[in-house]
Amino acid sequence: MIEVEGLTKRYGEFTAVEDVSFKIEAGEIAGFLGPNGAGKTTTMRILSAYLVPNEGRAVVGGVDVLEDPMGARKIIGYLPELPPLYDEMTVRAYLQFVAKIKRIPRRQREERLQSVMYKVGIKDVEGRLIANLSKGYRQRVGLAQALIHNPKVLILDEPTIGLDPAQIREIRALIKSLAGAHTIILSTHILPEVTMTCQKVIIIDKGRVVASDTLQGLEKIVRQSESFLLQVDRPLDGLTEKIRRVSGVTEVEEKDERSLLVKSALDQDVRNDVARRVFESGWGLLELRPIHVTLEDVFVRLTREERE
Ligand SMILES: Nc1ncnc2c1ncn2[C@@H]1O[C@H](COP(=O)(O)OP(=O)(O)O)[C@@H](O)[C@H]1O
Ligand SMILES: [Mg+2]
Repeated sequence: MIEVEGLTKRYGEFTAVEDVSFKIEAGEIAGFLGPNGAGKTTTMRILSAYLVPNEGRAVVGGVDVLEDPMGARKIIGYLPELPPLYDEMTVRAYLQFVAKIKRIPRRQREERLQSVMYKVGIKDVEGRLIANLSKGYRQRVGLAQALIHNPKVLILDEPTIGLDPAQIREIRALIKSLAGAHTIILSTHILPEVTMTCQKVIIIDKGRVVASDTLQGLEKIVRQSESFLLQVDRPLDGLTEKIRRVSGVTEVEEKDERSLLVKSALDQDVRNDVARRVFESGWGLLELRPIHVTLEDVFVRLTREERE
């Protein structure tokens, strides 16, 4: 649904985006993750046909955004980092205005307006001035303007930035509810955003794609073993050696006087055997907690390696 090939964008001497390529399938939610200044906004503006690259190609929903920018905008809904809202308008008047400039035929406008207000949950504030809305509601109105022409593809630039935790949860749920019917690419510099919302991740750093994979695929890159934390009810003395000898355990590290970090091969679940060894050795078991490799580990590693 989205195919990007060799995009490069220079601002004068400075290369903001360099040879960026990726693909996103129909109905997916993809996260475009990278530190500030990585080139996310630049790439998204190119995809949305608001910025022309120096090199490369972007095809969205079968439309080449460089050859046919107007055609591309018809099938793309774009939510910029700062939503283009007008404070002095009511929600309803603003969306009517957007429907008009997006050339939605007059006969269809009311139906589209109702449908989109219902979809993003702003029906109850349609008569309110945009100036008086909370940030969460403003972002919903931003989503509504992106959705009003029922685009196949949604491009959302940092859609939860500046929201409080409750609002973030609501907007995430809303975005998830839109996947399937729409193909979505959202940018973020916040790691949990991607793990909570997306199926696929494209990591960008200093204008270059450093990884592009599913979440599970990315985790596999750095995950060589399963590990878990073991906490017992009295000091370890002697237990560490006993755990080390449990079949399948590859590494044991003392974290503090009552807890151990235990590692095993990927395909082996040694927790039962470890627990039995703890009891048989006369210790009580307080905690046995798997430690999952997070996307953060992957992200930090990928962007750090790039720097080194
Ligand atoms: N209009 C511009 N002129 C010059 N440099 C720019 C311009 N827009 C962005 N940049 C630079 O390009 C780089 C990428 O910016 P941007 O795409 O906004 O990154 P992100 O959205 O990932 O934070 C940054 O170093 C930024 O300072
Ligand atoms: Mg940005």
